[in-house]
Amino acid sequence: MDNDIERLMELTSGRHELESLVKECLAVIDECGTAREVESARVSLLGKKGKIPRIFKGLSELPTDEKRAVGRIGNELLKLVTRLLKEKGGSLSDAGAGDTPKGRALDVSLPGRIKRAGHRHLLTSVIEEVISIFIGLGYRVETGPDVELDYYNFEALNQPPYHPARSLQDTLYVRREDPEKDNPGDILLRTHTSPVQIRVMESRKPPLFVISPGKAYRRDEIDATHSTVFHQVEGFAVDHGISMGHLKGTLEVFARKLFGNKRDVRFRPHFFPFTEPSAEVDVSCFVCEGRGCKLCKGVGWLEILGCGMIDPNVFTNIGYDPEEYTGFAFGMGIERIAMMKYGINDIRTFFDNDIRFLSQF
Ligand code: DAH
Repeated sequence: MDNDIERLMELTSGRHELESLVKECLAVIDECGTAREVESARVSLLGKKGKIPRIFKGLSELPTDEKRAVGRIGNELLKLVTRLLKEKGGSLSDAGAGDTPKGRALDVSLPGRIKRAGHRHLLTSVIEEVISIFIGLGYRVETGPDVELDYYNFEALNQPPYHPARSLQDTLYVRREDPEKDNPGDILLRTHTSPVQIRVMESRKPPLFVISPGKAYRRDEIDATHSTVFHQVEGFAVDHGISMGHLKGTLEVFARKLFGNKRDVRFRPHFFPFTEPSAEVDVSCFVCEGRGCKLCKGVGWLEILGCGMIDPNVFTNIGYDPEEYTGFAFGMGIERIAMMKYGINDIRTFFDNDIRFLSQF
C-alpha cells in the first residue's frame, strides 16, 4: 500500500468519522473512469464546500491537543487526495481519451471510423438520369396529380367505358359512383402517368416537348415483379409535322444514352388505346449482347417502354385539330428499367428500406 495511505490509516485509527472519510475519499478517486469524473471528485473532495476543507472548519472548537492531531490528519489527507487525483487525471489523459470508459484505453493506432454519407435512392437516381437525357433534347418537366379523374386517366386517352383496364380488379378507385352497383367511380389513383399528356395539352398550345415523372398505382398482387405503387416516366411531343421517324430517332438516342452506345434498338408493333400506330421498344440485351441469356430469357432483347403516335381521337378529345398537329408519346416503368440496368431481381427490395440493399447503389 502507498506509504501516505498507510500513515493516514494509522493516524485515524480509533477516530471513526475520519477513518471512514479517508476510505470514502479513496473509493471516490478509485471509481473515476473519465477526466470529467476526476474533476467532479476534485470539487466534491477539495472544493470550497468539499469534504476535506470541512475538517478544518471545526478545528477552532477543539482542545489544543486534538486541534493539532486532527489538523495533521486534515493536512495529510489534503496532500494525499491532491496527489491521487493528479495521478488519476494524468493516467486517463495518457490513455488518449478524456472520456474513455474506465478500464478501456483507446487504441490510437486503430483506423478511424468512416462516416457513411447518405445518397439518393436508386429509383430517384434513375428517374433523374432519364429526365436529364430528355432535358438535353429540349424537353420540359411537367407533373400531374396522383389522384385523378376517370376522364384524364381513361376517357380522354381513348379508353372507352367498359375497357377492361377500368375494371375494379385493375384500378384502385377512391370514390365509387354507386356502391350498390358494381360500376367503378370517377375518382381513382392514376394507373399510369399518361393523363399528364391530357392535362398539359389542355392547358398549353404546341409545340410541346414534355417529360413527366411520377407514381402510378395498380391493384396488383405484390410479388417479385409487381408492386401496387410504382414509378413511370411519360414523355410526349406535339407539333406540326411530328412523324414516326422523330419518335424512332428520339427513343434510339435515349436508349443508347441510358444503356450504352453499343445497344441495338428495335420497335415491335403493339397496341395502346391512346396511340396509333403503337409499339414496344426493345434494346439488345446488355449482358449477352443479344445472344440470349437468363436476363433476356434467351430472347436477346429487353423491353424498355411503350410508345406510339398520339391517336387522332386523343387530339379531338382535347380540342386539337388532328389535321394540324401530330405527336408521339412514350411511357416507361422505372423499377423495370432500374432492375434491368442494375441486375436486381425483386421489385420489393426498392421499398423494403434495407440499408444493405440501398447502400450498394
Ligand atoms: N401508359 C402505358 C402503360 O402504363 C405506357 C405507355 C405506352 C405510355 C404508350 C405512352 C404510350 O405514352 O404512348 O403501360
